[in-house]
Amino acid sequence: MNEHFIFAGHDTVALAKKFGTPLYVISENKIIEAIDLIKKSFEEYGLDYDINYAGKAFTNIAMVKIIKQQGISLDTVSGGEIYTALKAGLDPKRICFHGSNKSAQEIREAIEAGVGVITIDSFYEIGLVGRIAKELETVQNVHFRVSPGVEAHTHEYIQTGRIDSKFGIPVNMAVRAARMIIDEEYLNLTGVHCHIGSDISSPKPFEIAATTMLEIVYNIKEMGVEIEALNLGGGFGINYLHDDPVFDVEEYVHTISKIIRKQCDILGIKIPKIIVEPGRYIIGPAGITLYSIGTIKEIPYLRKYISVDGGMADNPRPALYGAIYHAVIANKYNKEANELYTVSGKCCETDMLIKDILLPQAAPGDILAVLNTGAYNYSMASHYNRLQSPPVVLLKDDKAELMVKKDTYENLIQNDVVPSWLED
Ligand code: LLP
Repeated sequence: MNEHFIFAGHDTVALAKKFGTPLYVISENKIIEAIDLIKKSFEEYGLDYDINYAGKAFTNIAMVKIIKQQGISLDTVSGGEIYTALKAGLDPKRICFHGSNKSAQEIREAIEAGVGVITIDSFYEIGLVGRIAKELETVQNVHFRVSPGVEAHTHEYIQTGRIDSKFGIPVNMAVRAARMIIDEEYLNLTGVHCHIGSDISSPKPFEIAATTMLEIVYNIKEMGVEIEALNLGGGFGINYLHDDPVFDVEEYVHTISKIIRKQCDILGIKIPKIIVEPGRYIIGPAGITLYSIGTIKEIPYLRKYISVDGGMADNPRPALYGAIYHAVIANKYNKEANELYTVSGKCCETDMLIKDILLPQAAPGDILAVLNTGAYNYSMASHYNRLQSPPVVLLKDDKAELMVKKDTYENLIQNDVVPSWLED
């Protein structure tokens, strides 16, 4: 019997051996599966739709190429993400530029590149984007972000649709914002947006948000402008652990399509195109991280620590949000998990990756596979302790090739410069 953990048809122990550890592994097949499920659900319920993959969850050139091949769009939040998308050859019309504090330079670059949509996040940005579009003599399609006052049940730091939030225009000021945008000569208001939080497990809060947003669409129509698109944001949850509640994307589309049809009918407005912006749902389950186990320390009657060769530098989520991950020992996959361990990273502080997990008896040299690490791991990684960022390997069918190279020591010092008074 094969004792090895197989991910997307690949032997993870062989991947660790070939590419080294720590190693991020991403499955293109799983990415496509998730995108297809969203597409299929929208097609089933007959809504005009687009998917804006939220690049903040995981972006690099190859990832954007996958997005391009799948015929979907990209949500970006910085000049760097836009630059990556353009370098990957994505049609700029497929780029939506978000962010709560876009710089004037980023806005200028985005308009010059010809991005499809800029989502205005504040009253301040209405004037800023309007002025820059005018200077460039370019009429820019814009949406604006509303904080609809919906509390989604998720970690406090990633609830972003509340009124007490830095994001978006408060719902009771949405009409005023729309008026100001319409009055800007070089802004073309085509949509409204909300994003109520991340890793949400139930469609219910989205239903409430959709209802609120359609009232705004109605109010804008009363001003003589027909809104083409309603962006309901991302936030679809995933199962980090087996018993986490399952976010059912089909149920989500079913729920929102019912409420959207009903409300549009009541309000006498055209059903807008629905845009969704999932990041985690598309890339989270498509990724795992492989580590080698090194030091094992047992404190009798208290705790058994196993240390891995990565940690909070490649996955800051446990330290930041108390995120909980499941893991397996890839080379002992069929062995009984009957030892209670705490998995710690190698960074010089507590760096607890997983507190209390049952695993088979571990030994130095074993390969630990942490599951569902595709989202917000690579993209939030740091060089803390001057650790080299792990490479990222992309799997497609039976192929496995790098999509990001491993950092070298040279990379770590490439931007270091020595002030004149310190030169030897
Ligand atoms: N759209 C907007 C406007 C967003 O702000 C976000 C996430 C998304 C889409 C994608 O959300 P998703 O579908 O991935 O949940 N670093 C945190 C997550 C922060 C999410 C911020 N905004 C984490 O590691 O959990």
